[in-house]
Amino acid sequence: MVERTLAIIKPDAVRKQVIGDIIQRYEQAGLRPIAMKMVRLSKREAEGFYAVHRERPFFESLTSYMASGPVVVLVLEGEHAITRYRDLMGATDPAKAAPGTIRAIHGASIEANAVHGSDSPETAAFEISYFFPGIELSAC
Ligand code: CMP
Repeated sequence: MVERTLAIIKPDAVRKQVIGDIIQRYEQAGLRPIAMKMVRLSKREAEGFYAVHRERPFFESLTSYMASGPVVVLVLEGEHAITRYRDLMGATDPAKAAPGTIRAIHGASIEANAVHGSDSPETAAFEISYFFPGIELSAC
């Protein structure tokens, strides 16, 4: 089943200049970028994106961090893209992520963990539409 998922290369990875390395890992894993842009989120935009975490103790810090610098947002397409991308990212906490995963390689902390990925088809639909209007995806 071909799926789409939303990926974010977070501010720590952009600062480390590993955008290219991360996109290469997506492509080598068969996750095809079909839409991509670099944006600087406002605090309010970061809060809207992570609204499901509003009650979590880390919400304030997470959304400030996500607004601290530019991010790269992509839509990735491929067979079982959602779970395959989550496997490629590794555990949320880089210290617990399996060797060879993107978070194990590039993540610095549970907050500055290099990349984000949608965790379900429902989340992917919301997250893709948050950044990309349908017209930007229709050409791919
Ligand atoms: P992400 O996949 O972007 O989804 C929510 C983010 O919250 C998560 O990655 C982490 O970067 C961040 N976060 C910060 N602290 C925690 C925590 N204690 N547990 C889970 N996620 C956390």
